[in-house]
Amino acid sequence: MTDGWDESAAAWIADMGEAGDYAREWVLDRPMLALCAGARRALDVGCGEGRFCRLLRARGTAATGIDPTAALLATARARDPEGDYRTGRAEALDFPDASFDRVISYLTLIDIPDLRGAVAEMARVLAPGGQLVIANLNPFLTAAAPEHRIRDASGAEHLRVDRYLEARAEWVGWRGIRIRNWHRPMQDYMAALLEQGLRLRHFAEPAPWGGDPERAARYRGAPWFHVMAWEKD
Ligand SMILES: C[S@@+](CC[C@H](N)C(=O)[O-])C[C@H]1O[C@@H](n2cnc3c(N)ncnc32)[C@H](O)[C@@H]1O
Repeated sequence: MTDGWDESAAAWIADMGEAGDYAREWVLDRPMLALCAGARRALDVGCGEGRFCRLLRARGTAATGIDPTAALLATARARDPEGDYRTGRAEALDFPDASFDRVISYLTLIDIPDLRGAVAEMARVLAPGGQLVIANLNPFLTAAAPEHRIRDASGAEHLRVDRYLEARAEWVGWRGIRIRNWHRPMQDYMAALLEQGLRLRHFAEPAPWGGDPERAARYRGAPWFHVMAWEKD
């Protein structure tokens, strides 16, 4: 079954532009780049159209991006012809053990069907002392499907969290994009990471630090994302 990424690629590329969407530009890039500072060799798992790899390469990190969606990879290569962008899936990484000092999952765990298999692969290709750097949607959000959100009389949107403990795939859509995302409770992510013997070195629910004030207020109301760094012994 398709996950919607091939069909949504053009709308995704348009939506991201060169700088990324609000959340990337004003919430997530800054902490994600800080966690990748000084990396020599990084793997961006689910690199999409390559934006974060380009940011890393501009900072001197040799970044490789993998992604299963051909149209996104084509854009990544067109925007960065010297870059290294390859077809691949998180669940079967085509790299030797201990190849990277950072492995990055930037809002991709929600897209990956086999979480435990993917995390095992990400841990395998990390060198000892290296870190798996993750940005993820907070599970209370993925448990509140957009079509079930409630608007009150003032127009304010409220989340209706439902079946939080039940992992499941659900279709979500916005601005011409329609993809299948996974909801999983936080404990499933933590269990998959702990199972690999990784150690949690950093955890944050980053606040917006600029951009359109209305958007920032929305992201301050509740943390949409968390950022983590897990180290391999
Ligand atoms: C929400 S996008 C994030 C893209 C990019 N990391 C970013 O933050 O802009 C999710 C990406 O995961 C990719 N993806 C879907 N299934 C995947 C899998 N099994 N393994 C790796 N990447 C996958 C999609 O093609 C898409 O590029």
